[in-house]
Amino acid sequence: MQTGKPSQTALAAAFHRAAHQVLEQGRVFFDPLALRILGMEAQSVARRAKAKPSGRRMRLFIAVRTRFAEDALAAAFGSGVRQAVVLGAGLDTYAYRNPLGERLRIFEVDHPATQAWKRQLLRDAAIPLPSSLTFVAVDFEHESLAERLAAAGFDRCQQSFFTWLGVVPYLKEEAVWSTLAFIASLPQGSHIVFDYADPPESLSPDLRAGHEKRAQRVATLGEAWITYFDAERLHPKLAAVGFTEIEDLGPAEIVARYFPGRSGSVPDKGGHVIRAATTPVKESRS
Ligand SMILES: C[S@@+](CC[C@H](N)C(=O)[O-])C[C@H]1O[C@@H](n2cnc3c(N)ncnc32)[C@H](O)[C@@H]1O
Repeated sequence: MQTGKPSQTALAAAFHRAAHQVLEQGRVFFDPLALRILGMEAQSVARRAKAKPSGRRMRLFIAVRTRFAEDALAAAFGSGVRQAVVLGAGLDTYAYRNPLGERLRIFEVDHPATQAWKRQLLRDAAIPLPSSLTFVAVDFEHESLAERLAAAGFDRCQQSFFTWLGVVPYLKEEAVWSTLAFIASLPQGSHIVFDYADPPESLSPDLRAGHEKRAQRVATLGEAWITYFDAERLHPKLAAVGFTEIEDLGPAEIVARYFPGRSGSVPDKGGHVIRAATTPVKESRS
């Protein structure tokens, strides 16, 4: 990220969510605050999104990853999770339309410059801050997430749910693993949902060309993609840090789950959304 400046890719992701509401009527992911937080009118969002048809793939992927994360959070709440952390929150609006209200404590963690900008946008849009929400400003590359969360009142003795959407590709792999190891060290029954991309060299020439264009664009914004994973290497490493459940949707699984009527071929490589969890301890019946 550029020093002292809010994340430009956070703005781009929020724009995609807003455009999904207008162009696809929020079919995959419905977010009544997506336009409001940006302070944009539906017509101008539609005009800008339609002017760039190549953005459709990314728009739908962002809708999918957010829907997947929120569905997983609802299921985790059903299993007793009462604390959630939105890592690299950007302009994510879950905390402001959280259907669980006070029953779910939420921490929004982000780079200080992005978080300050979001708070201003929330004020501009008159979106109230719920009392269940705590902001935590952290630079993942240079500060300890565990320490900053603890100082903000995060209870590390509770099973917890983390989302980390659109962030992993921007971080050094070492910073990614230290956060994953921290989450795996929390009480059993904790979860993380994040997204990642297959390495560019594993993509078909067509996909790779599209990928290189997007990669160049984000690099010029000062937010280069530097970390990729392949599932065969990622899953055993997740198991080694302590995750026992892994649900990984690659391109084919995403189409099957969220676009079942779609015809045509589906690439075998691309973006993934994954949930990793530690197994909850079963209460003994005596
Ligand atoms: C592409 S945006 C994704 C935002 C949001 N999760 C979403 O899906 O819309 C990337 C986010 O990662 C955050 N980020 C990038 N590098 C970071 C770092 N070193 N420390 C903290 N946050 C960082 C940015 O501030 C930004 O909010």
